[in-house]
Amino acid sequence: MSAPRAKPKYYLTTPLYYTNGLPHIGHTYSTIVADVIRRFKRMRGYDVTMTTGADEHGVNVERSAKKAGMSPQEFSTAIAVQWKQIWDDFGIAGEEFIRTTEERHHRTVQWLFKRCRNNGYIEKGSYTGQYCIYDNAYVVEAGPGDACPDCGRPTETVTEENYFFKLSEFQQKLLDFYAANPDFIKPESRRNEVLSFVQGGLRNLSITRTTIKWGIPVPGEAPHVFYVWFDALIGYLSAVGGPDFDKRGLWPADLHIVGKEIIRFHAVYWPAFLMAADLPLPRQIWAHGWLLFDSEKMSKSRGNVVRPRPIVSVLGIDPLRYYLLREIVFGQDGGFSYDALVSRYNADLANGLGNLASRTLTMIDRYFGGEIPQPLAASGEQKYSASPADFACEALTKITQLYERLSFSLALESIWELVASLDKYLTVEKPWTLADKPEDRARLGNVLYTAAEGLRIIAALAHPVLPQSTQKIWGQLGQAGQLNDVQLDLLSWGQLKPGTKIGKPEGIFPRVEKSEAIERIEAMEQEQNKPVPSPAASPAPSAAPAAAAAAPAPAAGTPKIGIEDFAKVEMKVGLVKSAERVAGADKLLQLQVDIGEEVRQIVAGLALAYKPEDLVGRKVVVVTNLQPRKLRGVESNGMIVAASAGPDGSPVLAGFLEDVPVGARLK
Ligand code: ME8
Repeated sequence: MSAPRAKPKYYLTTPLYYTNGLPHIGHTYSTIVADVIRRFKRMRGYDVTMTTGADEHGVNVERSAKKAGMSPQEFSTAIAVQWKQIWDDFGIAGEEFIRTTEERHHRTVQWLFKRCRNNGYIEKGSYTGQYCIYDNAYVVEAGPGDACPDCGRPTETVTEENYFFKLSEFQQKLLDFYAANPDFIKPESRRNEVLSFVQGGLRNLSITRTTIKWGIPVPGEAPHVFYVWFDALIGYLSAVGGPDFDKRGLWPADLHIVGKEIIRFHAVYWPAFLMAADLPLPRQIWAHGWLLFDSEKMSKSRGNVVRPRPIVSVLGIDPLRYYLLREIVFGQDGGFSYDALVSRYNADLANGLGNLASRTLTMIDRYFGGEIPQPLAASGEQKYSASPADFACEALTKITQLYERLSFSLALESIWELVASLDKYLTVEKPWTLADKPEDRARLGNVLYTAAEGLRIIAALAHPVLPQSTQKIWGQLGQAGQLNDVQLDLLSWGQLKPGTKIGKPEGIFPRVEKSEAIERIEAMEQEQNKPVPSPAASPAPSAAPAAAAAAPAPAAGTPKIGIEDFAKVEMKVGLVKSAERVAGADKLLQLQVDIGEEVRQIVAGLALAYKPEDLVGRKVVVVTNLQPRKLRGVESNGMIVAASAGPDGSPVLAGFLEDVPVGARLK
């Protein structure tokens, strides 16, 4: 017997994200997309490796660390660990997580530099230019005092002795390469942008810095450290063996997924570095568009970011994956809104796929004792099974091709046409009336077989996007094993075996009340969306909005703040005028609190620790200059200060031993 043929390898990457903050939905989008491709390729028979990771060097991280009162290494480690944890929790971590502070990476960068230098592509020079510290890049077109055109921040005039990479020598080589590999840069618009940039001429690139300490040392050339881009890009290679890349057989990468703002680094600098080092070039760079929030790019610097955990806590990871891939045309910008997210959830998942699954499974349970019924023989009453079966067969090829082209929104649209066609089929065939007549038993069986087989095909096709929920449907259909292992190319109509015992039908996507779901997500977002996330405060998912009064105790390593930060917080003595429970929320009390010049409504998580009537007339400490927010639909305009010091961390109100006037400020 011959040994089974080894699967072909497929290697893809996400960007390596900066550790100056925690992931927002934009980073999550790139990582989810990569994970969808990873799962899809696996179902096409590839042995897939996906790398994501952390880009830890550079001024941004150094600055954030300083602000947090930590060393760059300490700060960056705390953040990188959380990125990894978040991707793990979401099931999108891939196979490799590379940190640019790892020894395997340092070794690879230094090795690649030496190869470039030995091949004559590195020279020493001095450079003066306008430097954008935020973007870690010189702004060639800027003069002294000009702002950075990308981020709008002021540039700084910097002169330093650098090592230069002779990028100018690669203009023609790159143009020839793009011409010979028309699919290297996707989509077309980005390819054109890169072509015209390269055609416009390339200047040599300064790749080391002496003005920065937080970086990989240039071997034997202290105090030079490598420029972040002659560091981070190389992480794609370090993750799969670095100098020994041949051993794992994963280089060159098949695909780099990136956001459009970093296409130039990936499609110009990166291939040039690799050409200079005589190494194989990646096969494709796909630059997707931006997630916009209120028509602006969501970004850490703009502070308009949406964090993923609250959404995942309230709706689950699959609905977020579905929404992002269905709503945004891959390659284009797309608006993000909670409204659209929850609408899609209810319409396509709860009422669409979820409803089809529960209808089908419940009827098989009820009419056939939970066993997949027999379809009609093809020669018999074929008209009853022909239409969905034909539709599904066509869809299989079409949808596979759409995934292959990374046209995710079209692939999902086609899968949901299949969902709609089966729904319609059930509505037309009315199995619930067939069930009343014994003479229609065979036909009833055929209808339910068709629905179940359609559902099985849909589960497999939607699996790359909805891995958890389709696996549940798969199990409920009595199918053994992991959908991950199913080969799409071997999937065909009729493989569902009559007589298979189905699992207990269970709801997959319970309908949610839109405004309530959005309020819950927003309340959690507000808790998490602090401008500089503290590496010590882990934003673990929680099922309910955090209670206003029960803030977590500061963990060891909480960054120090200056007196000016403390002065920003206004705290006053308040007098509780009234208190009542918030309907439907065990922990919340709605209070009216006199703070001197006005009476404020405040919602606080005190209900498990205090009876409403015991609070009336009590003096409390109120943070008075917090943004108002809604908890369970009730506006809260302030926060009551308490220690998490009671049993199980329940709140204990801060108070005074002496009598204090209402409205007095705490300093
Ligand atoms: O640029 N919409 O890291 P980064 C969609 N370390 N995607 C977005 C997005 C948005 N609004 N915002 C961010 C870096 N992204 C470098 C990369 S690679 C060797 C080094 C995604 O933390 C998108 O993929 O700023 C973008 O390219 C990436 O996050 C930038 O992440």
